[in-house]
Amino acid sequence: MVSLADHARWLGAFFRHGTRVASLAPTGRRLAREMCREIDSETPQRILELGTGMGTVTRTALELKHPKSELVSIELDPKLLEVAKRTAPGTTFIHGSVGDLPQLLDQHGWDQFDVCISCLPVPSLPKSVNQTVIETWKERCASRVFSQLTAIPWVYWGMYRKMFHHVSFRLVWLNTPPAGVYHCQTLRDDFLSDGQLAGH
Ligand SMILES: C[S@@+](CC[C@H](N)C(=O)[O-])C[C@H]1O[C@@H](n2cnc3c(N)ncnc32)[C@H](O)[C@@H]1O
Repeated sequence: MVSLADHARWLGAFFRHGTRVASLAPTGRRLAREMCREIDSETPQRILELGTGMGTVTRTALELKHPKSELVSIELDPKLLEVAKRTAPGTTFIHGSVGDLPQLLDQHGWDQFDVCISCLPVPSLPKSVNQTVIETWKERCASRVFSQLTAIPWVYWGMYRKMFHHVSFRLVWLNTPPAGVYHCQTLRDDFLSDGQLAGH
């Protein structure tokens, strides 16, 4: 269970690294369920989560997944990861940066995966890191859906439409603050052509 001390830890991380954590509160339960839309409880899958935080989405993924599915979650902040490790047992947690995503997946022996749930703060990451994430997804999961959380609804709708052939956006009002999820499919060949990828 996530305690008050854990929430204090979240706030500490937010005030230390605001844009990296990107939200004043962890992902709410309804938003976590929307993030996990592609998880199929009837079929074993390889599920990859990017940006674990305190593990709210991770715990929902654990509840929804098939018992034989594998769940790997990657997080940069060791203190937030401690909370996730305690509250979402049964997950393989990797402490590292998604900037090294191909190497981290290789070390884990994953050349392909089926579900990608990204809670990453895309606008505040370096463009090169966002590019690594999308290119790794393209190489290892391209026929599936890329689900991306956003704390600023609709702002990046245009960017995702330029990058992917199919994009749906689901707003979750009952989250603090209201937030949403882009579910993206089929990357365009020229997705990098006019530098539309967010980041600095
Ligand atoms: C919006 S928060 C995730 C919230 C999470 N769903 C929860 O409810 O606890 C974004 C997370 O991405 C992590 N993050 C930021 N940059 C990262 C990177 N380069 N590699 C891995 N994780 C990163 C942050 O530390 C933060 O925990």
